[in-house]
Amino acid sequence: MRKLVLLVLVVLAAAAVWVWRSGGIDMPWARAERTALGRQLYAENCASCHGANLEGQPDWKRPGPNGRLPAPPHDASGHTWHHSDDQLFAITKFGTAAIVGNGYESDMPGFGDRLSDGEIRAVLDFIKAAWPEREAEHQRKISSG
Ligand code: HEC
Repeated sequence: MRKLVLLVLVVLAAAAVWVWRSGGIDMPWARAERTALGRQLYAENCASCHGANLEGQPDWKRPGPNGRLPAPPHDASGHTWHHSDDQLFAITKFGTAAIVGNGYESDMPGFGDRLSDGEIRAVLDFIKAAWPEREAEHQRKISSG
């Protein structure tokens, strides 16, 4: 009997450490709060290029006069949902030029000096909340793989 109690305590302690290390359990209400923060951060930091309604810049597939690509939409008509969570986070934090490398020039700045990691995740959660189920499901799959 005593052994069983000890075993239960060890399992509970391990579970507590796991929850602590993984940054807590992502409860639905915490996610809703993050999406609301993300909406505000998006309006302040991203909408000027990616559009107030995630629509992107006109003719976004063709490079502009400066030879660089315009800002693509973040809704289902763009290709943001073709990227995994890790890629989206890295692009937003470091900027596209740093991620592509090889001297690639891009107008997508890195926000690592303006937004915390949590704020970047909040903006991305807001963007992801706009995707229809098919695109969201695809993006979830490539993120967990
Ligand atoms: C100054 C204009 C500008 C601002 C502000 C801006 N972006 Fe961008 N963003 C771009 C451009 C231009 C691209 C395309 C870059 C390329 O492919 O070379 C891009 C691309 C991206 C991509 C990759 C999309 C894809 O389909 O490959 C993500 C993700 C992204 N931006 C997120 C954000 C987020 C989040 C914010 C706000 C925190 C933001 N951007 C603010 C201009 C901007």
